Amino acid sequence: MKRLKKSITIATVALSMSLAAGFAAATSEATLAKVPADAVGLTNPVEADEDAIKMVMKKAYKKKCKKCHGSKGNGKGPGAKGMEPPPPDWTAGSPATDGQLYWLTMNGSKDTEMKGWKAGIAKKGKEISEEEGWIMVHIIRGFEK
Ligand code: HEC
Repeated sequence: MKRLKKSITIATVALSMSLAAGFAAATSEATLAKVPADAVGLTNPVEADEDAIKMVMKKAYKKKCKKCHGSKGNGKGPGAKGMEPPPPDWTAGSPATDGQLYWLTMNGSKDTEMKGWKAGIAKKGKEISEEEGWIMVHIIRGFEK
């Protein structure tokens, strides 16, 4: 029994170490936990249409997200210098569900520099539509190398 307990502890430590190493610059558990339960499992209702993605990339991502998230989505935009927590590195993929990426895009991550972009939170004229929010999820997934 004692032995089993010990090996479970070792396995747990090894797993959390590999997770920490693998996702060092990925979205933290604390950030993901900010998303309400009913938003986590939402599936992307907007198709990954190449033209729409290009348009949102040009019209919204480059103008509103790139300065922090970087043109390649690696979190190294000029505006991200010294930011704590820093923007995530999406080139290694994201542990977030589509619903979590969408909710955090629209509502922001409380107590960080990531402000929400939906109407009522973003500055007037800067907000993005629900459709653009879901297209952002396709854009974020597209950064994965
Ligand atoms: C002023 C800098 C800044 C801008 C501009 C910005 N972000 Fe962020 N973003 C951040 C930071 C910092 C985090 C990390 C927050 C955390 O760790 O909780 C973040 C986190 C996120 C997340 C949370 C999920 C994840 O993978 O960590 C999403 C999704 C996201 N940003 C999307 C966007 C989109 C889309 C735009 C443009 C419409 C945008 N951001 C604009 C700084 C910014």
